[in-house]
Amino acid sequence: MSAGDKSSTPKGEVYSPSADVIAQANVRDPEALRKEASENLEAYWAKRAEELTWFKKWDKVLDDSNKPFFKWFVGGRTNIVANAIDRHVRTWRRNKLALIWESERGEVRTFSYHALAREVCKFSNVLKSMGVSKGDRVTIYMPRIPETVIAMLATAKIGAVHSVVYGGFSVEALHGRIEDSESKVIVTADGGYMNGKVIELKKIVDEALRRTAAPENVVVVRHTGKEVAMEAGRDYWYHDLMSMPLVRTSQRCETEEMDAEDPLYILYTSGTTGKPKAIVHTHGGYQVGVYATFKDVFDIKEEDRWWCTADPGWVTGHSYIVYAPLIAGATSVMYEGAPTFPFPDRWWAIVEKYGVSVMYTTPTAIRGLMRFGHAWPNRHDLSSLRLLGSVGEPINPEAWRWFYKNIGKEKCPIMDTWWQTETGMFMITPMPAMTLKPGSASRPYPGVEADVVGEDGKPVKPGEEGFLVLKKPWPAMLRTVYKDPDRYVKTYWSRYPGMYTAGDSARKDEDGYFWIIGRVDDVIKVSGYRLGTAELESAFVSHPSVAEAAVIGLPHEIKGVAIHAYVILKANATQTDTLVDELKAHIAHEVGPIAKPETIEFVQSLPKTRSGKIMRRVLKARALGMDEGDLTTLEE
Ligand code: WTA
Repeated sequence: MSAGDKSSTPKGEVYSPSADVIAQANVRDPEALRKEASENLEAYWAKRAEELTWFKKWDKVLDDSNKPFFKWFVGGRTNIVANAIDRHVRTWRRNKLALIWESERGEVRTFSYHALAREVCKFSNVLKSMGVSKGDRVTIYMPRIPETVIAMLATAKIGAVHSVVYGGFSVEALHGRIEDSESKVIVTADGGYMNGKVIELKKIVDEALRRTAAPENVVVVRHTGKEVAMEAGRDYWYHDLMSMPLVRTSQRCETEEMDAEDPLYILYTSGTTGKPKAIVHTHGGYQVGVYATFKDVFDIKEEDRWWCTADPGWVTGHSYIVYAPLIAGATSVMYEGAPTFPFPDRWWAIVEKYGVSVMYTTPTAIRGLMRFGHAWPNRHDLSSLRLLGSVGEPINPEAWRWFYKNIGKEKCPIMDTWWQTETGMFMITPMPAMTLKPGSASRPYPGVEADVVGEDGKPVKPGEEGFLVLKKPWPAMLRTVYKDPDRYVKTYWSRYPGMYTAGDSARKDEDGYFWIIGRVDDVIKVSGYRLGTAELESAFVSHPSVAEAAVIGLPHEIKGVAIHAYVILKANATQTDTLVDELKAHIAHEVGPIAKPETIEFVQSLPKTRSGKIMRRVLKARALGMDEGDLTTLEE
């Protein structure tokens, strides 16, 4: 008899796993695991933590004496790099490939665990030589190249804190993040390739640094070979530093012993104010959470080739390109460029070329590729695939079915994982042995207690829409907002006592399956990228012609959601088509190309509350031709 999920058979459009999938799954009985974790949360997580290496074992699994400032694996001494690298190079895995990288132009570089360990040690020594030590921040602003991974690991190895800023962000977004983090060093590159074009990252860094008290050093990786300005005494080439006699000859660097609760990284994410908000993750609990979820959900085996198409600059890349796969000793594929460059089969060519077996991507990418038809994937042998995944936004059932049929050939379950920068790890997610429903992220991961509640904080009835909340702590949870603990409490834990508010609306059906609807706060998810209305609006008003602006997200066929802006011009400015183009270019320059609004509408006034807060809900209702009441009372 097959194991699989023993809960009652889910209803609706369902896809049950084959006997083969169940037989080889790391978790053959998800229901049993869920039961085990719900009966004893601490014992469950302790068991998972024991699969990893610790310098000193923890005294207590969970300390909840100062809610919502939870602590995990209290008293434990560790370093995530000891698990991601050091322990592998002591075994046969030293010869296993950790990373297979392909540039947009087709260049290939591979790193065994041994090679990765060596490069990381060398770069750790470079950082040390620049005076970076435990607790210092390092900003990493890079294209999708191996040095991004090396820089992150090198920073963590010496106990410093990385702050990766997505390479698609631009001048003002970068400036704000460098300034707030007070980084000592910035690691960047001369540029990166995207769609055949060069994104000149160093130039953006130079412009950002003109607006801020400069960090002491800028390290520049040569990738495109394009000429860049180098400021003497501040800017250094990565390859020069890596071949300094001291660095070249000392290919070792001790891994700093950290407290389980010491910070590992900060990651800026959009919030409801213009001030950047950095989420803090720590070494101990985070490593356990990302490792366990990766192993259980993506069912990783020694012989797998894993490909997460995300960018390391977002949490998906942190957790599931860098840390979880390395901790699990997996082989990852990483690709620098655009999915459609030079042709719409680039991704499928990569799957075939490297024999990718598990692939994790976004609904936007799937919808974008779907547009070109199934002839493109059909040109390639995709038979190496056994499991697929989706993240970042709700996946519409049509895209799900296309992915399932044309890419997975109806034999690869799709893991639609719901989680956030704040959660660090998958929270609501299927596992391969579970029955799937297209469009539903299915059920909470073992130990996770998720629910959908109404305004009053009470669970709503099955099928009804409400706020998504989490009722129990989890090891990879954010610990605080960097330099702003009050904001941590206020944003996440104050709406309902004892519950974490995710900022999403959702429904739970009669089978306990969750259906995520979308954001209910001032966050817009464009192509799965998380942007804040406040940051966008402040970029608008930094243009000399703009007096005031409001942005909302409206449904978009490919991007899921696209930005629509309302702009009040200053008295001396005139409304023209060129001004529209100029404003779009201004937003791309200040925030980044992903933030470019789809449409801009000039208006005379904006609906506001008495206290002067823009009522985006009203704007949205009008734009969608709905009654303002139709949008429910979910939004403030
Ligand atoms: C959305 C990305 C539906 C959601 C890992 C969440 C999803 C926000 C899903 C976090 C999913 C993420 N289905 N919606 N499977 N995964 N989201 O911080 O709105 O960039 O709150 O983390 O993405 O975005 P973030």
